[in-house]
Amino acid sequence: MKNLAIFASGSGSNTEVIVRHFAESELARIVLVITDRKDAGVIERMKKFDIRIRIIDKEALMGEELLSVLQTARVDLIVLAGFLRKIPGLIIDAYPNRIINIHPSLLPDYGGKGMYGMNVHKAIIENEEEESGITVHYVNEEFDEGEIIFQETVEIDPDDTAEDLAYKIQQLEHKHYPEVIEWVLNREFID
Ligand code: GAR
Repeated sequence: MKNLAIFASGSGSNTEVIVRHFAESELARIVLVITDRKDAGVIERMKKFDIRIRIIDKEALMGEELLSVLQTARVDLIVLAGFLRKIPGLIIDAYPNRIINIHPSLLPDYGGKGMYGMNVHKAIIENEEEESGITVHYVNEEFDEGEIIFQETVEIDPDDTAEDLAYKIQQLEHKHYPEVIEWVLNREFID
């Protein structure tokens, strides 16, 4: 049984889907949810589950404190689900190929600093793109640049708004992220 930590800064819809998916799993369990925002929706969402949630400030994130929290909880894999801060090198070095992220576009398009959530969807609609999608990738020290693990596309209709696209992307994320996490667990931990 592997221990997962989920990092989330926002509403936490992906976090909830992942928590529910692994509730009965023999492969992994969620031992910890980390957020950097006191008002993040994910905090309220987690109340109905028996999962430890920890709010960390910027200093704790940058220093050794976070690493110690993760090690004490015996975390094997870190899953970013809408976490908007950069992961410090200290954590990346301690978890090589053990941190994954989901991004709401087809990377390398519409990635990098400032490209998150609705900013991504607005830019895609403004550029009249005909498709978008989701990317799951390993996390390295550059935003959105680690090795790509999984992508899935979605068509954009000419009259889709950024909100319509956000909804389509969210559905795609909820459908695929849990199974991609399983795939990574099998790839990384089982010969
Ligand atoms: C998701 O769409 C995720 O892809 C995005 O934040 C959203 C979080 O939604 N992540 C990024 O933009 C990272 N660059 P949620 O809080 O409802 O799970």
